[in-house]
Amino acid sequence: MDSKEMIELCTKHSLFSWSATGKVDPMPIARAEGVYLYSPEGKRWLDWNSQLMSVNIGHGHPKVIKAIQDQAATLAYAYPGMATEVRARLSKRLAELLPGDINTFFYTLGGAEANENALKAARLFTGRHKIIARYRSYHGATHGVMSLTGDPRRWPNEPAMSGIVRVMDPEPYDYSFGSTDEEKTANNLTYLEEVIRYEGPHTIAAMFIETVTGTNGILAPPKGYLQGLKKLLEKYGILLVCDEVMCGFGRTGKLFAFQHGDIVPDIVTLAKGLTSSYMPLGVMGVSDKIANHFRENVFFGGLTYNAHPMCLAAALAAVEVLIDEKMVENSAKMGEVMRGHMERMQQKHKSVRGHRNIGLFGLIDLRKNSKNERLVPYAGAHPVMAKLGKFFKDEGLFTMLQWSTVMCNPPLCVNEAQIAEGFEIIDRGLSLVDEVFEG
Ligand SMILES: Cc1ncc(COP(=O)(O)O)c(C=O)c1O
Repeated sequence: MDSKEMIELCTKHSLFSWSATGKVDPMPIARAEGVYLYSPEGKRWLDWNSQLMSVNIGHGHPKVIKAIQDQAATLAYAYPGMATEVRARLSKRLAELLPGDINTFFYTLGGAEANENALKAARLFTGRHKIIARYRSYHGATHGVMSLTGDPRRWPNEPAMSGIVRVMDPEPYDYSFGSTDEEKTANNLTYLEEVIRYEGPHTIAAMFIETVTGTNGILAPPKGYLQGLKKLLEKYGILLVCDEVMCGFGRTGKLFAFQHGDIVPDIVTLAKGLTSSYMPLGVMGVSDKIANHFRENVFFGGLTYNAHPMCLAAALAAVEVLIDEKMVENSAKMGEVMRGHMERMQQKHKSVRGHRNIGLFGLIDLRKNSKNERLVPYAGAHPVMAKLGKFFKDEGLFTMLQWSTVMCNPPLCVNEAQIAEGFEIIDRGLSLVDEVFEG
């Protein structure tokens, strides 16, 4: 099928997410390999966002493809009440890889379902109802976790589920809790403790955080925040749930992002990088105290495709590739290379407000004037961003533009030459934004 027919039929007969389908202009993708995507006619794009920050090991890895094929030929499906070899092997491997006492796993089909089940587990375990979540967050598109989500994707889904208390992040969009990391951490946690007291600690089951916030701005926590937060929540018997759907599995230069803060949460949720998106899979990992509770008490959660053998086989292979081929280390190393290019972009382009990255999880932030005002206000738009998006697409770079930012999240197998190739295109694109700089 050629690109034209592919686009016509896809937009005629299928709905596109987060879009008015009549207005989308999808890229036609026939195949993908490593860090590159190809159209049916052979046009090549550098995948600068690992699709949805999820194809961590890169596209088309033969070991994962073979593992899926072998599993399909042996046992494509067994209902969730059964034991299978692949379930045994993956669960044991995850228990080895997750630090602390996170040794028990509940499998889902993606990140939202992992968070939905974490929400259930936290409420059932504590017997409490309320959940704290933060404004600059995304936790998935199903009803419960969309209610946790702070970003504007929540608005059309309201009224939301009851019992959610939303709080400010340590790094809000315009407000600042302080100028140093220490100040931000101390002030944010003081404010949070006051909220906990107002709400009644005995009513709060858990707090959900993206350990490193993803689509809402690639925000690593300020120094001391994770440890301080864990201690504060422990004081009130509130569980900490780290949503590592996007930031887990090497994206930040460590296998799990909470390892940067030297903590272990009570519950972790993972998806995306778990299979590098070769098959749909999410997982909720729980600490021993929670797992032991559900050895005696029913866990009221289930899915027809819970622990689907083909998805688990993809995960087992993808995780081994990630580790054996040292892609977590590469993420940390290439993150430094990427930072160098970002610095260069800031020196060269007056429209660059700043940049940040942790491993291969990064973005460039744009501004409209020398007062450092963001190019786009919270949840706003600017015509130059559409122009920039088209430029990247035409020039062979696939990435996401979010409000004032250019996302920089290539697969963790990326090399220095490919990073340079990406920044060569970004460099030319930023000249378009410089043209609308107001001075
Ligand atoms: C941090 C985070 N949590 C949860 C989700 C939802 O995952 P899924 O789309 O697999 O349901 C996402 C998806 O982007 C995410 O980034």
